[in-house]
Amino acid sequence: MTQAKDLDYTIHHLCVYDKDPRQHMWPYLRWHHGITGYFTGDTFHIADEGHADYTFLGCGGRAFQIQLEAPPYQFKYEQEWYAKHGNGYNHICWIVNDARQSYEQLQADGAIVMQEFQPFPTYDGFVMSDPEGRWIEIMEYTHDTFRVQEFTNQPAGECGLRMIGFVEVVNDLDAMSDWYQKALDLRVQEHYQNGAGGQIHLVDKFYDARERNTVMVLRTARGDEERAAMAGKGPYISAILYEAKDIERAFADGEWAGMEAIAAPAEDPLTGLKTAKLREPSGNLVELREAASS
Ligand SMILES: [Fe+2]
Repeated sequence: MTQAKDLDYTIHHLCVYDKDPRQHMWPYLRWHHGITGYFTGDTFHIADEGHADYTFLGCGGRAFQIQLEAPPYQFKYEQEWYAKHGNGYNHICWIVNDARQSYEQLQADGAIVMQEFQPFPTYDGFVMSDPEGRWIEIMEYTHDTFRVQEFTNQPAGECGLRMIGFVEVVNDLDAMSDWYQKALDLRVQEHYQNGAGGQIHLVDKFYDARERNTVMVLRTARGDEERAAMAGKGPYISAILYEAKDIERAFADGEWAGMEAIAAPAEDPLTGLKTAKLREPSGNLVELREAASS
């Protein structure tokens, strides 16, 4: 059977379920982001319940971006998730070179099918959950021209802001790190021990410090908010991760843009990097870290 390493798993987007994307995209746009795809109306992804409504936003992170996805959701399991959780971070999407093969390989590695493999007009794809229950979307572009557009990896604004990835809170850090390395061909970039838990940074095989510095952070719950969320809903996607050359300025810009200040820039004792937290308009965390000086 095809191995994960042959499928070119590439981190692509974090999806935010949000019933009000027209309002909630403005703080992102004011905070140095741009729109890379705006798929709405009656011509795209029409389902029984109506058309899809996807807005993709990025900030100097090349391929990695966020997707604001508005109801009505197409499938029952999506509608049930939204009824239970409301606005929130819903899934991470990976691009592959063969979605049909990925569908078999991920199941063999222990992922659980949420939405079966399906050919759509512009891509083939499906949704599974990882062994702890977080959703994984897989897409293979099949159309000649349809792509969600990419940015360059150039930091944006005077503060040098760049969206670089996401944070997932896990139950079993080592088991999940091992699983993502095996099932999605990720590799460990950094590892921080924190008592019985810790934080592991994983990257896909296309990682490039200058051109494509996307990172997936897995960690055991840190701070009251993550511990409370973990106790309430179990393992989940906790934050969008950004880096900034000038973190104080990026934090101030974020507040001005409409993000809520949660924790001002301060040194993180675990990583030694200056780190800050904001809340984005859908109600979820945004984590900022200071970029290594170049
Ligand atoms: Fe998605």
